[in-house]
Amino acid sequence: MTETTGRYIILISIHGLIRGHDLELGRDADTGGQIKYVVELARALARHPDVWRVDLLTRQVMDPKVSPDYAERMEALADGAFIVRLPCGPRRYLRKEVLWPYLDGFTDQALQHVRRIGRLPDIVHSHYADAGYVGARLAALLGVPLIHTGHSLGRVKQQRLLEQGVRPEVIESQYNISQRIEAEELALDNAQLVIASTRQEVEEQYVLYDHYQPRRMEVIPPGVDLARFQPPGRGRFNPPIAETLARFLRYPRRPMILALSRPDERKNIATLVEAYAGRPGLRERANLVIVAGNRDDIASMERGPRQVLTRLLLQLDRHDLYGQVAYPKHHDPDDVPDLYRLAASLQGVFVNPALTEPFGLTLIEAAASGLPILATRDGGPRDILRACRNGRLMDPTDAAAMGRHLEEMLSDRAQWRRWSRSGVRGAVRHYAWEAHVEAYLRAVRRLLRGRRRGQELQARRTRLPTVDRIVVCALDNTLLGDDAAIEAFKSLLLASQRRVGFGVATGRSLRSALTELDRAGLPRPDLLLTSVGTEIHYGERLVPDEAWARLIDYRWEPEALRDAMGGLPGLRLQPKSQQGRFKLSYFVDEAKAPSRREIVRRLRQLDLHANVIQSRVMFLDLIPIRASKGLALRHVMVRWGIPPESVLVAASCGNDEDALQGNILGVVVHNHGPEIERLRGRPRIYFAENDHAWGIIEGIEYYDFLGEIRLPDEEGLER
Ligand code: GLC
Repeated sequence: MTETTGRYIILISIHGLIRGHDLELGRDADTGGQIKYVVELARALARHPDVWRVDLLTRQVMDPKVSPDYAERMEALADGAFIVRLPCGPRRYLRKEVLWPYLDGFTDQALQHVRRIGRLPDIVHSHYADAGYVGARLAALLGVPLIHTGHSLGRVKQQRLLEQGVRPEVIESQYNISQRIEAEELALDNAQLVIASTRQEVEEQYVLYDHYQPRRMEVIPPGVDLARFQPPGRGRFNPPIAETLARFLRYPRRPMILALSRPDERKNIATLVEAYAGRPGLRERANLVIVAGNRDDIASMERGPRQVLTRLLLQLDRHDLYGQVAYPKHHDPDDVPDLYRLAASLQGVFVNPALTEPFGLTLIEAAASGLPILATRDGGPRDILRACRNGRLMDPTDAAAMGRHLEEMLSDRAQWRRWSRSGVRGAVRHYAWEAHVEAYLRAVRRLLRGRRRGQELQARRTRLPTVDRIVVCALDNTLLGDDAAIEAFKSLLLASQRRVGFGVATGRSLRSALTELDRAGLPRPDLLLTSVGTEIHYGERLVPDEAWARLIDYRWEPEALRDAMGGLPGLRLQPKSQQGRFKLSYFVDEAKAPSRREIVRRLRQLDLHANVIQSRVMFLDLIPIRASKGLALRHVMVRWGIPPESVLVAASCGNDEDALQGNILGVVVHNHGPEIERLRGRPRIYFAENDHAWGIIEGIEYYDFLGEIRLPDEEGLER
């Protein structure tokens, strides 16, 4: 699919360690199922013919404690799929609970990334609360739809911890839970679509949120990389991990009860061990294999996993399970598919005893490997067993029942084979990534179709986040005034349109500016700063920048100002059409009117506040003290992350003065007002020798603004 027709999708998953090879799943609490999910989703989406490009944005980590892979700015995952690592706060690896203060910086980096790509994404898809916060802001800034996937929810966690008797202050200080929940609410507030893995997640978990809108939620079960997970062939299967297990087991060829999870309290490994230990028949018939992450020295691990593993060792010893239970210290990601396959070839069972399981990826992997499952009666497993019909559900707190189930499942060979076959079929039909991506893109198509029917979001689209540079022109006596010059300017702009934005900054009202632009046959600007920068509008649809209106409405008292000006000689109000909400404009009779300085002094003495701007002698504008063309332009540059060296301002009169200054590149046309003469000599303000738009073109050439962009030093440029 080409850039113009294919979809561009941005996925955001901020915390944990993400790379394209050898995922370090289980290394820490932040590097688990979600990481794997987003990497595979990115790859699977990129394989689809409708998709042009997928960028998975994550945090850049530069830390000697982790692999330098996580410091790479960009990593190709597949054809058209990339991991893009963005700086976010300190360089070192941080756990997700402490990332909150740095997320706004991440958003800014994401904006810069979009600019580098030069195209707006069709979709921003955030994963987990931290990315939800960033995604909500990014999607709002870009004016594109947000899809959110919660993965695990703060309110559910909070409830669970409270039930366990953890005090609210502790939950707060340890997990920053209210910030997380607030971010989730924000994401739900903004998302056009929430993708959940199971029905239960929608009905029992999202329901806890203020912004619970089930009609905007869609259950699309996670996909599984089925190429990696396949049933064993005939004959004896003897992968490398079998040797590791053999060190623990007296009879390694007995059926294997396999459990695979992080060493986390919630995964409830302890009850499984009790279930196994309590049934001598089961202990005779099968081995128990517990693969719970990697470890070097339990004593130096974090408290959570340390407690889980210590308890495991004590249980093994108490029940004297030596020779019957394996609990390898290390395994590679590549051992995981082998483990399922080995268990399947030994006619074993996969067991997931977790207290809750919203997702259950391991169950699908087991199913795809032809290994029947016994799983906790919770959301994920329920859906999976409904789809795959390959085992049983159980109460994870009832050790005796768990043991009974296992023994029964291992004794009925015919049933075991039916489960095994049915699991493989169900996994392919319901959980292949291809199926996930089809459902995903169907949902995306619906979203985007809705937008074209004129949703308010569409209107917010602007090219500003993707242009690479922008030319901002004053109208009267600058861009306008010479028809041949306008034509020349137009063809110059059109020739390089894709990456060059077009802006207008004028004293005229919006309406009158548009009339003039139409009359001159100029295109709709990407940016309109009108009424001397007191109003900002974006793009084709003239979307107003409302934040700007709020920002400048400070000490602005138009009635009092008008009264104060009323008594002055030589000043006449301009027609109503030239007055604005934030602009009070007069004609000046130079012979009679007081000077600008005198007017300013008078207003200050009356404790009135206005930016008083005189242009071409005859115009006088009063606007709020926080407004001007220059400030409006800076506001736009900050908002969209446009660096000053990428902005060329073409101007000719007093109200342009502050827009020309600073680090941006300025051009003053030859037919300029006298008030601006004093800027001559500044290295970044070029005084053209030609009038009107010919002067603008001269300035563009001077800086090579449509080419390499030459930046003058203090002496200016060699000509
Ligand atoms: C434009 C406006 C006018 C303003 C002048 C200077 O001509 O129409 O109202 O006073 O620019 O900013």
